[in-house]
Amino acid sequence: MNLRIAPSILSADFTELGREVLAAERGGADLIHVDVMDGHFVPNITIGPLVVRALKKIVSVPLDVHLMIEDPDRYIDAFIDAGAAMVSVHVEVLPHLHRTLSAIKARGARAGVVLNPATPVVSIENVLTDVDYVLIMSVNPGFGGQTFIPRSVEKIRAVRAMLDAAGNHGAAVEVDGGVDLDTVSQVVRAGAEMLVAGSFIFSGGKAEDATRALKSAALDAAGVRQTF
Ligand code: DX5
Ligand code: ZN
Repeated sequence: MNLRIAPSILSADFTELGREVLAAERGGADLIHVDVMDGHFVPNITIGPLVVRALKKIVSVPLDVHLMIEDPDRYIDAFIDAGAAMVSVHVEVLPHLHRTLSAIKARGARAGVVLNPATPVVSIENVLTDVDYVLIMSVNPGFGGQTFIPRSVEKIRAVRAMLDAAGNHGAAVEVDGGVDLDTVSQVVRAGAEMLVAGSFIFSGGKAEDATRALKSAALDAAGVRQTF
């Protein structure tokens, strides 16, 4: 198991963005999760390639870019040019999902597919061997600070089993939404390896401590002995 903590900057103090992400890194962040919203696919507008480019200058860990936009095909190159190492796209907006995943990988980035809470796991059945990771939304996308949807645990387990059955053992399951000290152990035990957390990490103004606490709880749940 390769557990990775991915702090989502959505809940960071944007007047102190550099300081916030560096604090998360000191706390053990393995990725920095960037939530891109267009006001169409989700009812909120957030970050574009400019901010990814700025983050890339100061962050040492990979940038994990989550595209919650209606037309991801149009912006993939811009985000990868700006420094995205991982790009995830929603199955709900992509009639040619295989083509989109291939385009991400052709640019040298890792390709992820995202499922909204109401989207069935069978919708990714035909791309199981094409993905580098699958992101299970455990809240409806659009905002930080929402309550974890319990049914997501079963979905994580199902997707992990589907990836394994397809022979794609290297593809990780990522979970996003409502991950905190109360929910982390269930998602890790279900098979999630990449854990996105926004409000838990950034809303208290102590991103370093919060990242460290979440990572420690995740490692405990995975039964891994702590070495830090
Ligand atoms: C929601 C975003 C999440 C969000 C998670 O649309 O995709 O990444 O930042 O925030 P929390 O951890 O507060 O639920
Ligand atoms: Zn996200």
